[in-house]
Parts: sequence; structure tokens; C-alpha cells
Amino acid sequence: MDKISLLKDKQEKALTGGGAKRIEAQHAKGKLTARERLTLLLDEGSFQEIGMLVTHRSKDFGMEKEVYPGDGVVTGYGTVNGRLVYVFSQDFTVFGGSLSETHAEKICKVMDLAMQNGAPVIGLNDSGGARIQEGVVSLGGYADIFYRNVKASGVIPQLSAIMGPCAGGAVYSPAITDFILMVEHTSYMFVTGPNVVKTVTHETVTSEELGGAHTHASKSGVTHFACANEVACIENIKQLLSYMPQNCEEEAPVYAYEAGDEVRAKLNDIIPANPNQPYDMKEVIEEVVDAGSFMEVHKDYAENIVVGFARMAGRSIGIVANQPASLAGVLDINSSKKGARFTRFCDAFNIPLLVLVDVPGFLPGTDQEWNGIIINGAKLLYALSEATVPKVTVITRKAYGGAYDVMNSKHIGADMNFAWPTAEIAVMGAKGAAEIIFKKEISEATDHEAKLKEKETEYLEKFANPYGAAARGFVDEVILPADTRSKLIKAYKMLENKVDSMPKKKHGNIPL
Ligand code: HXC
Repeated sequence: MDKISLLKDKQEKALTGGGAKRIEAQHAKGKLTARERLTLLLDEGSFQEIGMLVTHRSKDFGMEKEVYPGDGVVTGYGTVNGRLVYVFSQDFTVFGGSLSETHAEKICKVMDLAMQNGAPVIGLNDSGGARIQEGVVSLGGYADIFYRNVKASGVIPQLSAIMGPCAGGAVYSPAITDFILMVEHTSYMFVTGPNVVKTVTHETVTSEELGGAHTHASKSGVTHFACANEVACIENIKQLLSYMPQNCEEEAPVYAYEAGDEVRAKLNDIIPANPNQPYDMKEVIEEVVDAGSFMEVHKDYAENIVVGFARMAGRSIGIVANQPASLAGVLDINSSKKGARFTRFCDAFNIPLLVLVDVPGFLPGTDQEWNGIIINGAKLLYALSEATVPKVTVITRKAYGGAYDVMNSKHIGADMNFAWPTAEIAVMGAKGAAEIIFKKEISEATDHEAKLKEKETEYLEKFANPYGAAARGFVDEVILPADTRSKLIKAYKMLENKVDSMPKKKHGNIPL
């Protein structure tokens, strides 16, 4: 064979992965191949492969007989909407996408290049974990990746799509990255699969129940997105990237925007007359951000808080909003963790924050206390306090108790705090407050109920409004709801060049 033909032969072998039969099996499960996924993700003709001819070194268990160029992972770089990204895409047709020493080296190589050149890494994961035949070198390979994931955290965005069964080490690297996307019905994530679970805990559980997309989107919160299929998953990756800068030194891309009529009359009527009646905070979000720009993150997990990206006059923002339509918008363990993690991503990557507040307080109860609402609620407080990006707050209705402080109050460094006339800012709700501070008067009254009502009304008149906070400057302006969008656009424009930093330190110690 001449030298040109030899190269072509090797390339051909690499392109066919584990062979036609296994590719067919992959398609039969409704899955694409590693290369098909990259074709969908990257701009046409932009992919440059690195390490196509790498092969494994192991000779144990007959491994010298089965050798596949590329060794189960396609790695390289390309562009998404014209912006550089580094990619690895695991090939399940080669030893189940399992991670060998050389497979790990290929991933590490693109991660190192991504760090040196300041561009996101996108991992398309489809792997049975550490390659069993290789023993400790595959475990070492995983640790090499984990170490790089941690070093890259907060420097470049790291996105993980789970596109098949991912077990063992194959789930821990995604766990350290910024966002995880899973595909419904064809992807699973677990540290130990159903068989091991059965042996150890005697629980009978399917892969889907244990670690399917729905489970991780709603129960564990491990995944940020559950996507209907692989195409939708890849579209979501592209959309997510559009809100992010290439690295922590840069700003997110700015989209064209023409100033128009920014008044949103609908917002004047959105708060129900009855303060205990819910409304959908997502309707508020849709009204204030650029039309169609809101991308919700972690939609099915801890629905009492809403987080996501959007654009305001063409610029990326991150939104953290209480959701009165779920558990009255109360803060609990899961919503605090969800809000904190999203806040820290935005802060690390220079994405300004918008915090929308309608919160009755923290969720009471033994379940919450015993599971650590103190430590977990403190995560959101810590994250919003340490964030130095522009931070703007709008209090739409309730801002009670510690939750007032936590939800980006002036006191923890918010730059601009707006309140609607419907805002209620107080230590606690009127009934509870009246029962405590007027206990004696109420018990001495002939009609306890009437006295309680009277004192409740007195408390409401004093605190169920934003004017006490505005008088002290804790609220910068009480605004008409319809003017919220124009006020926010101006505030973010004013804050565009904000410079702020935390005191010099090795790192803080967020209550984990
Ligand atoms: C080597 C593997 C493999 C592995 C799968 N294969 N996993 N080869 N090492 N880890 C191979 C199979 O032998 C098979 O080869 C092919 O990939 C497809 O696998 P199937 O089992 O036929 O596919 P499927 O039924 O879809 O099941 C997929 C799976 C299952 C759920 C991933 O294969 C599985 O449970 N694998 C083992 C998972 C695991 O325990 N990994 C180690 C985790 S420990 P042929 O030749 O038949 O096509 C770990 C340590 C790191 O990762 C921890 C760091 C914290």
C-alpha cells in the first residue's frame, strides 16, 4: 500500500468507529453517532479533528486484537455560530465509549488547549465509564480530567451533554462542569447502575427511574435540561452558548437592539388584589426582557425559584426570581441551592444579574431544618453577596424576613433596587406579627378575633408597602410596573462599566 493510501485507510477506519453493526445498533436505539452529533453542533466545515489515529496501549484481556483508531472519542475544535469551541464526543460503538488511558489523554489535550486559548469546552458524553480492561490507568485518566475540570471552572464555560448511558467516572466530570443537558429516554446517569443497587440496597429500579433525564431534571437537580431528543439537546447547547462569553475575561456577545416602546402596560395588572393569590413570575420575566430571549435553566427542579438567561436591550443577563405560583415562592433548600449555583455562574462570567422578589420567607418545618435549611439558605445569601457583576432587584410583592435580605437587598451589594407600589417589606406577615407584638392586648380584649384583626390591619398599613424602605434608601425608586423594562434598560446601561471586586483572598468558604 502506498503512503497516501495507508493514511486514507487509517482515516477510513477511524471514521467507522466500532464498525457498521454497532453504528446500526446505536441508530436503532434512536441515538446518533459521535461524529453525527459533532456535525449537528459545529458550523459546517469548521471541525478540525485532533488525535484521530490515537489507539489504546492496553494488551490485557485480548485488547491487542481489537484496535480502533481514535480509541472511542472524537476530539478537536470548531465553531458554533462563528465562535471557537473545543469538543470531545464519545463513541459508544468503541468499547461502549469507555475511558482508556489514551481516550483520557485526548480529552485532556483539548481541555488544555481550551484553557490556554480561552474558549468553552463542550463534552458529548456516551460512556460506560472507566475501561474495565485497563484498571488503574483508566481511573488515573478520569482523575486527570476531573482535575482539569476544576482548574477550568470559572475560567471557561464547560458544558456537558449526556447522550447515552453514563456510569461511574463518566458522571463525575459532567458534575463539575457548568451545565448538564440530558436526552429523554436514551441517556442515564448513575454512579452505580440498577444491578448494583439491587445487590446493595435490595431496591428494584429501572435505569430510567434511577438516572433518566426526568429523574435528574426534577428529583436530583443533577441535570439543568431534559431534552426531547439529541437534535433538541444540541440546539439547547448552541442557545446556551449565545448568552456566554468565551472566558472569564470577556463579555457575552451583544445582540442588535433598537429602542422601541418599552412600556409594558400588562404589568400594571399582574399582581392579584388578594395578596395570597399566586401569579406566574415567568409572565413578568417575558414582559421585561427582550422578546423571546428568555431561556429557563433547571425548569423542572425547585420550581419555587426561576433561574435563566435572557437579554436586556441586546445584552445577556441572568435572572433569579421567586415564583409565587409554586409554594407561594418560598425559599427552601433546593431553591436556595439552585439560585446560588446559577448566580455564581453568572458572576464568574460577567453576566449581570436581575433578581425579582416575591417571597414570603423561608420554608418552616422539621424536614427543612433537619436537612440544613440554615446552611443551604446561606448558599444563596453568600452567592448574591459575593457577586460583583451589576446586580439589580425588583420587588414585585412580598419581601419578608431573612428572605428580604437574601434576595439581593441593597445591604448585600445590590446596585439598583426598585419596588412596585404593591411591594410589602416587613419582618414577617401581618397575622404572625400582630399575634406576637400585641399578644397581651389581644388576650385582654373581650373579642380576641376582632382585636387581632384590628392589630393586623394596623401592621399592614404600616409595613405592607415599599415606602418605609424607600424612605431609608433601601429601595432606590418605587416604579410603576409598566415602566419596569425601561428602568432596567437604563440601570444596566448605567452599570455597564461597573468595577468591583471582593477582598484579595485565596478563595471564600461558601457553606457547602
Ligand atoms: C469496557 C465496556 C464498558 C467498560 C461497556 N463496555 N462498558 N468495555 N469498559 N466500562 C462495552 C461492552 O463490553 C460492550 O462491548 C459495549 O461496550 C456495549 O456495552 P453493552 O453493555 O452491550 O451496552 P448496554 O446494554 O447499552 O449497556 C451500557 C452500560 C453497560 C449501562 C454502560 O455496558 C455497563 O453497565 N457498563 C459498565 C459500567 C461500569 O460499571 N463502568 C465502570 C464504572 S467505574 P461489545 O464488544 O459487546 O460491543 C468508574 C470508575 C471511575 O468509572 C470513578 C471515578 C470517580
